[in-house]
Amino acid sequence: MFSRYAILVACLVLLFNPNVYGDEQVVMLENMDLSKIYNAWTGILPKAGKNINGGPMVVGGVEYKHGIGMHSETEFTVDLKGVTTRFEATFGMDTSCGTGGSATLEIWLDGENVYQTGVLSGVSAPENINIDTTGARELTVVITNGGNGLHGDFADLADAKLTLVADAKSVPEIVKLPDNLPTMKIASKTPKEPAIHGPRVVGTTPGKPFLFLIPATGEAPLLYSVVGLPDGLMLDSASGKITGSVESRGTYVVELTVTNQLASNKRKLTIVADPGHLALTPPMGWNSWNAKGLSISDQKIREIADAMVSSGLAAHGYQYVNIDAGWGKSRDENGELSPNEKFPNMKALGDYIHDKGLKFGIYSSPGPSTCGQCPDGSPEPGSYQHEAQDAGTFAKWGVDYLKYDMCSLGNMLAGKGRNEYIKAYRIMTDALADCDRDIVYSLCEQGVNQSWEWGASINGQLWRDTHDIFDLWASMTGIGFSQNNRTSYSTPGHWNDLDMLVVGKVGWGPTPRPTTLTPNEQITHVSLWAMLSAPLLLGNDLTQMDQFEIDLLTNDDIIDVDQDPLGIPARRISNKGRLEVWAKPLWDGTMAVAFFNRSLHRANIIVNWSDIGLLTPQPVRDLWLRKYMGIFKDSYEATVPGHGATVIKIGRGVQ
Ligand code: GLA
Repeated sequence: MFSRYAILVACLVLLFNPNVYGDEQVVMLENMDLSKIYNAWTGILPKAGKNINGGPMVVGGVEYKHGIGMHSETEFTVDLKGVTTRFEATFGMDTSCGTGGSATLEIWLDGENVYQTGVLSGVSAPENINIDTTGARELTVVITNGGNGLHGDFADLADAKLTLVADAKSVPEIVKLPDNLPTMKIASKTPKEPAIHGPRVVGTTPGKPFLFLIPATGEAPLLYSVVGLPDGLMLDSASGKITGSVESRGTYVVELTVTNQLASNKRKLTIVADPGHLALTPPMGWNSWNAKGLSISDQKIREIADAMVSSGLAAHGYQYVNIDAGWGKSRDENGELSPNEKFPNMKALGDYIHDKGLKFGIYSSPGPSTCGQCPDGSPEPGSYQHEAQDAGTFAKWGVDYLKYDMCSLGNMLAGKGRNEYIKAYRIMTDALADCDRDIVYSLCEQGVNQSWEWGASINGQLWRDTHDIFDLWASMTGIGFSQNNRTSYSTPGHWNDLDMLVVGKVGWGPTPRPTTLTPNEQITHVSLWAMLSAPLLLGNDLTQMDQFEIDLLTNDDIIDVDQDPLGIPARRISNKGRLEVWAKPLWDGTMAVAFFNRSLHRANIIVNWSDIGLLTPQPVRDLWLRKYMGIFKDSYEATVPGHGATVIKIGRGVQ
């Protein structure tokens, strides 16, 4: 029996809400606010009744008029308001992605994973989803990239609908986190007493130039000293710069000391002098792409180098200043690369960077052109068939780091097996080894040819195992949280590169703008990259940092987790209701544990010591707060806001 009131409400809902169709009492998801969907593919928004590209939605040979056309990675949450009984949809890859795209679908109901597909491709049969939602409050849909990057992942949730209870007084809607939630507290002060930071182990090739700026903070002036430097190296005690070249192969443990008028601080640094042993901890620095795109110039790079020092980032271990696409122009009659007019003198730029104790990175491609452009719009030359010559040019300019981006090689080798790609990348390995300086080799093939499986075998120090990151929650988390099966490939000297950080001001062009990630999401981003031992290559405009960015990027406790000399990335310990716990063993016998809240709600996340193999009470330090929390008997519980993260360190000696 309907009460008069219920009939009135039903009539009003039918009259004023276009989501409800006649007496069917269903809500089509496509009629909700699709702008609230977390979407990783920049510029292309989910489409109602069409595939992501605006074409007909065809799944399993059937054309659907209703549903949402999406692109991995995507995530959205529907507030069910307790008024639904059923969720139904047909999920599959849109026929337009052919065999190229792939994705998986997860469905979470009030934090329980109630549906999970395997990896579907364009030729897989679609799956029909029919889930009882009676009484449930929240439904979350997650589309992952299926493990092979997101290119061409056009995924359709066809005929997606919710059935309502007969007397529904409200209508379900897609919800996302408000942007103005309070920011989690993070430590903001760097003590005045001296402290040494950054890597505890560095590699070099005997006979090649060595440069290491001892990263140290404390009230100026700081005075540096070192005991046990190998023959060939010397220290500048006023700047903390160690230069020279190690004469003989060996492993040298040196003791660094930094002193100011308040106190002294000591730390051991291991110098491994052995060919092929570079980047023994994940590289830390900056890359121009996310901040500046093609708008870079000599002047802007100098300003970044200045800011890396003046903001204090260098004192916390950031050292690389890497130019991405947009510096090149052409080759001269001898085949020699020349930079464009925005870079009048590359050698002088390299010297400028080195004078500050920082290192200089550049960008090229194994193909004939890079992914960038010259200022006149023509393709930027890559190193194809000029590998040794270009490596020699880079060495002459003082380059310390080369990002080698697949780009046009992909078109040349389309349809060929991955061995051809490996061969192309190996040519540059050999060319770099023949140079008279150490150049860190950063492979970038965006995960298309699974470089994590072969990058180390050709002595790549790092390899991009993902497509390009964007400053979007679904992009950052899609990359970070999908690393769990790949972490074993990262070891000292060889790292999975999860792409540059999208914190602070980014924009891929002349006028950087604030990232769309909220402060708590940025805390999650840095926590995740540090836990995964990922290179910390900043993508923000260092000349425009605010206090939050500085605090976010200079937390030495978090940086120490990233730079841990064991180089063992975290693994996922638990994943309950979008609440995840990851743990990472550290060199001093302690462990870092991160609590990630991927849900929209504040939640308590717990780790039991027994889950991570510990049996006795443990001292705990909160790393973002940089604060000792006490001794905890058999577990630790963190209260974490939606999309936020907490990182702790536990174990003997923690204070
Ligand atoms: C590719 C890379 C990016 C950047 C651009 C430059 O997309 O993945 O990191 O280097 O090229 O065009």
